Amino acid sequence: MNNLLVTGGCGFIGANFVRFLFEEAGFQGRVVNADLLTYAGNPLSLADIEAANPERYVFRRADICDRAAMERIMDEFQIDAVAHFAAESHVDRSIVAPDTFVRTNVLGTQTLLDLCRRRMDRLEVFHHVSTDEVYGTLGEEGYFLETTPYAPSSPYSASKAASDHLVRAYHHTYGLPVTISNCSNNYGPYQFPEKLVPLMILNAIEGKPLPVYGDGRNVRDWLHVADHCRAVWAIMTRGRRGETYNVGGRSERRNLEVVGRIIDLVEQLCPALPSGPRRDLITFVKDRPGHDWRYAIDCTKLESELGWSPRETFDSGMEDTVRWYLAHRDWVESVRTGEYTRWIEAHYGKRA
Ligand code: NAD
Ligand code: TYD
Repeated sequence: MNNLLVTGGCGFIGANFVRFLFEEAGFQGRVVNADLLTYAGNPLSLADIEAANPERYVFRRADICDRAAMERIMDEFQIDAVAHFAAESHVDRSIVAPDTFVRTNVLGTQTLLDLCRRRMDRLEVFHHVSTDEVYGTLGEEGYFLETTPYAPSSPYSASKAASDHLVRAYHHTYGLPVTISNCSNNYGPYQFPEKLVPLMILNAIEGKPLPVYGDGRNVRDWLHVADHCRAVWAIMTRGRRGETYNVGGRSERRNLEVVGRIIDLVEQLCPALPSGPRRDLITFVKDRPGHDWRYAIDCTKLESELGWSPRETFDSGMEDTVRWYLAHRDWVESVRTGEYTRWIEAHYGKRA
C-alpha cells in the first residue's frame, strides 16, 4: 500500500484513523482523505496532521457518489488501497431523512466499489467500515457472530446492511480484494456532539439536561475509537480477503450506566454546580422509534486470527474521553459556533 484513500476522514472515526496512520501505525505511504464535509465532517480535526505532513497527507473535498470526482482522485493519486469510512451515521437523523442515508451509504459505496473493480490490477484492499447494527437487536442473551443473519431495523442500519451486501457481492462476483469490519459503538476524541457520549459529557459540564431515551436500560457494547482504528488496520494489512470481522469491546453497558459514569467523571474533574448534583440533570425523554434493545459483539475471530484485543477498558477510555473534551474546548466551540462551517465555505467553497 503506497497510496491509501480514506473516505470520510474528517468524521469522528476517519479522523482518528488518519491520526493513527501518522502517529502509531508507521504507515510510510501517502494518505488521500476524500470527504464531502457534511455537518459531521470537520477538517480542523486534522489541521495539525495536514500542516506537519504536506507531502504525505492530501485532502480533497468530494462526494463519494460523484463518480467523476472519485475517479479523478483514484487516478491522480494512483490509489492502491481504500479505507471506506464515509457515511451518514446517526440513527436519529436516519429516522427523519432516510433518503440521504440510502444515497451516501448504498449508492456511494457502490460507486467506489465499481471504480475499484476497474482498477483491480493495482488494488491491494478495499476495506469497508460497517456496524454491528446490521444484525438487528438482541434480547438479554447472546452475541452477534460474523455468521449471524442480517436483520437491520433502522434506515441507518438497513443502508449499512445494503452496503455490506454490495461489498460481499463485488468480492464474490469480480474477485475484488475486500475486507469488512462490523464494529460496536465507538466513543473517544473528535466525536460530533449529537451522539450519546459527547452529548452527555458536554451537557454535564455545562449543567444542561441529560436526555435519556425511554427507561435508559438499552444496552450497547462500547469500544474506544483508538481500538477500532487498530482493528481496522490489522484487518486491512493481515485479514483474509473476502472476510468479515466483528469488532467489539466486551464492554456492555446500559445507557444509564454510561451516563452515570460520565457524570461521576465530570463531578471529579469539574467544579460542582450551584444548582445541585449532576445526577439530577438526567431527564427521561420519549423513546426513539424502533429503538434496538441490545447490541453485543463476539469478536473471537478477530482476536484469534489477528491477535487483536482492546487496550482501553471502559473506565480508562471514558476518562480519557472526558479529559479530552475538557482540554479541547476550542474544537467543541468550533463545532458549536459554526466556525468550522464558515471555514469550510471559505476554504473549500470554490472547489466544491
Ligand atoms: P461521522 O458521521 O462522524 O463521519 C462521517 C464522515 O463522512 C463525515 O466526515 C462526513 O463529512 C463524511 N461524508 C458523509 N457523506 C459523504 C459523502 N457523500 N461523500 C464523502 N464524504 C461523506 O461517522 P463516524 O462515526 O466517524 O463513522 C464512520 C464509519 O464507521 C461509518 O461508516 C459508520 O457507519 C461506521 N461505524 C460507526 C460507529 C460509531 O459508533 N460511530 C460504529 C461502527 C461503525
Ligand atoms: P447513539 O450514540 O445515537 O448510537 P446508536 O444509536 O448508533 O447505538 O445512541 C447510543 C444509545 O444512547 C442508544 O441506545 C440511544 C441512546 N441515546 C439516548 O438515550 N439519548 C440521546 O440523547 C442519544 C443521542 C442517544
